[in-house]
Amino acid sequence: MTRTIPHLTAAVMALMIVSMATAQDGAAIFKQNCTACHKIGARLVGPDLTGVTEKQSDEWLRKFIHSSQGMVKSGDKDAVAIWEEFNKTTMPDFPFTDADLTALLGYLGSINKQPASATVAAPAPEPPMVFTAADVDQGRFLFQHRTSGGGPSCVSCHNVTDQGVVSGGLLAKDLTHVGERIGDQGIAGILGAPPFPAMAAAFNGRTALTDKEVHQLTAFLMHVDKNTEAREAGSMRTMLMWGLGGLVVILLGVALIWARRLRRSVRHEINARQLRTI
Ligand code: HEC
Ligand code: HEC
Repeated sequence: MTRTIPHLTAAVMALMIVSMATAQDGAAIFKQNCTACHKIGARLVGPDLTGVTEKQSDEWLRKFIHSSQGMVKSGDKDAVAIWEEFNKTTMPDFPFTDADLTALLGYLGSINKQPASATVAAPAPEPPMVFTAADVDQGRFLFQHRTSGGGPSCVSCHNVTDQGVVSGGLLAKDLTHVGERIGDQGIAGILGAPPFPAMAAAFNGRTALTDKEVHQLTAFLMHVDKNTEAREAGSMRTMLMWGLGGLVVILLGVALIWARRLRRSVRHEINARQLRTI
């Protein structure tokens, strides 16, 4: 209890700092809140936001940033379409003030006006992440234990389907296929600077994940995704084979019963004939 109080205070303070950010500082707001998932000029966890202020109205964007899930639930056509395109990955709600939103949208609008070469050439392609078997093992261990900074275990909020991992919490999304959904860069981005309030509060300041922990947890989650997929395909095959085997056994049984019935009735006919000849 005494440990969680400073964490909560830190989280509340962080939220206050976010909302107090000066209105002029759209770029800073973007960097602090959005870059875990959005990159200008490339797709990351979420879409490339280049040109978004021309694609959508100011009003739509303000509503979406306040509560994208609220818009999805209310059935907004564009919000549902982009949510489905991004495999139903949840973008967190941002309770920004109008002034902050104005600054943020001003910044996003200014990106459009830069010459195409400046924005398109900006992000160098990320080198592929390399994971060893030891990284995967360490990540599996970390997933189920307190992190080095004293943060809670991932498994207390998330479930993954992996041999050797206990069932996890249902407070947050199942992470078995998160690798397929958002990729290794996406996972590492989220773990490096968690954008979801619950996770941001859990891994903050002293309890933040180290770069090494981020790498190992990403290795584990990428491994679980591939491995479970292969196992699921394997178990489908086994189920199919058992199913077919079972069908053959049942058919054989039915055939036997019928044959018996037939034999009995043949004998019965013969008996009847013999009886008649007497
Ligand atoms: C945890 C990852 C994450 C964070 C953090 C995040 N987003 Fe998103 N964003 C997404 C995803 C995923 C989508 C795709 C739609 C969806 O899933 O709802 C999206 C969609 C959008 C869209 C709609 C784009 C379109 O083409 O219609 C806008 C605008 C947007 N985000 C702005 C922001 C801004 C501004 C911030 C920071 C204040 C931010 N996002 C932070 C993940 C994130
Ligand atoms: C206090 C609860 C909590 C803890 C602990 C926690 N998370 Fe999360 N996590 C969340 C919530 C809430 C979300 C937002 C998505 C959702 O609603 O499920 C999230 C989202 C994520 C996502 C993005 C999922 C997606 O599909 O977009 C990843 C990856 C993730 N967490 C990994 C981890 C890892 C790894 C750990 C351990 C270091 C961890 N989380 C610990 C609550 C938690």
